[in-house]
Amino acid sequence: MRYPTTRTRRLRTSASLRRLVAETRLTAAEFVQPVFVVGGEGVEQPIDAMPGQSRYSVDRCVEFCKSVSDAGVAGVLIFGVPDRKDESASGAYDEGGLVQRAVAAIKERVPNLLVITDVCLCAYMSHGHCGVVHDGRIENDASLALLARTAVSHARAGADIVAPSDMMDGRVGAIRAALDEGEFVETAIMSYAVKYASSFFGPFREAAGSAPEFGDRRGYQMDPANAREAEKLAKMAAEEGADILMVKPAMPYLDIVHRVRASSALPLAAYQVSGEYAMIEAAAARGWIDRVKAVRESLLAIRRAGADILITYFAREFASRLD
Ligand code: PBG
Ligand code: ZN
Repeated sequence: MRYPTTRTRRLRTSASLRRLVAETRLTAAEFVQPVFVVGGEGVEQPIDAMPGQSRYSVDRCVEFCKSVSDAGVAGVLIFGVPDRKDESASGAYDEGGLVQRAVAAIKERVPNLLVITDVCLCAYMSHGHCGVVHDGRIENDASLALLARTAVSHARAGADIVAPSDMMDGRVGAIRAALDEGEFVETAIMSYAVKYASSFFGPFREAAGSAPEFGDRRGYQMDPANAREAEKLAKMAAEEGADILMVKPAMPYLDIVHRVRASSALPLAAYQVSGEYAMIEAAAARGWIDRVKAVRESLLAIRRAGADILITYFAREFASRLD
């Protein structure tokens, strides 16, 4: 008897056959786990809108990172959640700041884990915007100086990769120049090159306390209606010296992941953001979807679209669930 779809059907008859011919695989070596750091000691604060995720004080953060590393996950992406904010985001580039202390502690205790730091000003600015604000307007160039200073302070603390997420024009070039001048020529830049003004960042803003006090981020983040612009921004980031590009969010923007993959030779990361995580957790908690299968499928889809690196809140847990 001949099957009409002979080859594919034969190759589906066992799990090992399916694995043998799978076009896309998930490995922990391409996973990155985001981590939120707060002040204090012995602190682990669960995040309401992100069940299963917490904010950790530096000491607990190190323990958490150890477990991330033990699971085989390649790296962590560090976010600071400061209790002090001001008009110049001074906490962002404070040499003894939260992120700087966390990075140094992780590099000392978990040296094989890659440490990536989010470089932005929003969590440290009293107004909550990603750049310097003057008379209600974002000052692009004044923001660049503070972002570069922040990136250098992270590199000095030992970060392997700095990841600017602010979306100011020219930040990758400014950060690269400042790193090189500070003799941090080996510190890589992962640019949030393609970041959309997305409602899927909602839970993160609760977690990081970084919601803007007035207005929104549409002045500097991308319009979800636009795709060609993504290729343009990816090209600009590459020309300015980015080592790795990122698309964010991931699931609603798989076409963008695909386009950027096709138009650039740089390694590409995709960030499955807080709202994507929260959606899956919320539906699973109600028994509406199978949690483990849905997570796997979502991660496979992002890889299949063309991402080399997966930044996901599921990293630690799913690293040990891979086959
Ligand atoms: C800061 C930043 C944000 C995220 C990463 N870096 C929030 C924002 O731009 O409003 C979102 C990550 C997530 O939702 O998981 N600029
Ligand atoms: Zn920001």
